[in-house]
Amino acid sequence: MEDRENIYATEQADTFARVRLSAKRYGHTLRVADTAEDLARVHGLNPARTRLAALLHDAARELSPNEFLDLALGWNLPVGEPERESPKLLHGPVAAELARRELGVDDGEVLDAVRDHTTGHPGMGPLSLALYVADKIEPARDYPSVERLRRLARRDLRGAAAESLRRSIAHNEERGRTTHPASLETLEWLEEAEKGA
Ligand SMILES: [Fe+2]
Ligand SMILES: [Fe+2]
Repeated sequence: MEDRENIYATEQADTFARVRLSAKRYGHTLRVADTAEDLARVHGLNPARTRLAALLHDAARELSPNEFLDLALGWNLPVGEPERESPKLLHGPVAAELARRELGVDDGEVLDAVRDHTTGHPGMGPLSLALYVADKIEPARDYPSVERLRRLARRDLRGAAAESLRRSIAHNEERGRTTHPASLETLEWLEEAEKGA
């Protein structure tokens, strides 16, 4: 995509998110967009494409559980047991599909990043990693290890994604919640790569 097209697409995506979201969640979206764009610059990724993914990532977040299931099933998106139990897990895949259908976004890496931002995905690319991590460290996030994660993210996106997944898996375990299989597989994939590095 040419830069001018990217700028046009990010303006459209901004509106797309703003009209669908509460002020609070739109605020989160803009902070994730700034954080993801910054990480993209640090890691030599395309800032406009990364910002585009971030602007889209939570655009479907305020649909109802029934809407998630109806849209996902209607579009033949994968819906497993975890998604039936917690349909909001579908907000990434549904946002990616909405962006493709309604905004004409056809950048595969951007759509993958939007789709996979909730659970992660083994083999996820750098743009997906940047969005995944930016979502966890945007400036309003406040938890004990967030500062360490912010520093790590500037050095090592994979390491930061792995650290963040370990944290959320531990968090689920403490609360007796199951972790989505894709998150476990993603951590395994990242840890394999860490060992091999
Ligand atoms: Fe999200
Ligand atoms: Fe988010």
